Amino acid sequence: MKAAVIYWSQTGNTQKVAASIQKGLEESGVQATICTVAEVDDLDFFDYDLICLGMPSINWHPPKPVEEYLKNMFIRYKKEGRVKPGAPVLPGKYALIFCTYSGPHTGIREAIPAGKYVGQFFEHLGFTVVDEWYILSEFFGSEENNTLGRMGNIKGLPSFEDLERIKSSAINLGQRL
Ligand SMILES: Cc1cc2nc3c(=O)[nH]c(=O)nc-3n(C[C@H](O)[C@H](O)[C@H](O)COP(=O)(O)O)c2cc1C
Repeated sequence: MKAAVIYWSQTGNTQKVAASIQKGLEESGVQATICTVAEVDDLDFFDYDLICLGMPSINWHPPKPVEEYLKNMFIRYKKEGRVKPGAPVLPGKYALIFCTYSGPHTGIREAIPAGKYVGQFFEHLGFTVVDEWYILSEFFGSEENNTLGRMGNIKGLPSFEDLERIKSSAINLGQRL
């Protein structure tokens, strides 16, 4: 089983989560490569059994570079005839979406739209979205958003324990698929 962990991270939260997912997958026996959206080059989703795509929620959207990347991939696959009406499910092709967020205004609801949107790119290609993981994370550079928001004091998140839990979940996922 082959997996790719592809992520975008500005202040390091998503990077930490991506690394934990890769570790967990490797521990479960899955061969897992990791790269950023900037490094991803011409990686073909269809060469992998599992694509893990991660990003922060930015104004309840995926960051622009992630959106651009996925749109370009979609255009490529459309040209190749891989986008089909009815989006037939491809057996053995899976996607995991992970999204870090701070939720200062409306909590997890300002992260879920980003996760759902990204998931649709994979579902349109016939990948089964096995899960969306939303990880509460520090909002670097904003004391207000870190302490007075909907989620309370979120400094230092994701914690070591959070990252260990994520690794365990990735081990379970690798064993399950
Ligand atoms: C410009 C900007 C907009 C953001 N918008 C949201 C948002 O809409 N919802 C949310 O939950 N968090 C939002 N955040 C917080 C980030 O999603 C959160 O800190 C994330 O973990 C950052 O990930 P990174 O460290 O991998 O870059 C925003 C952060 C920035 C800098």
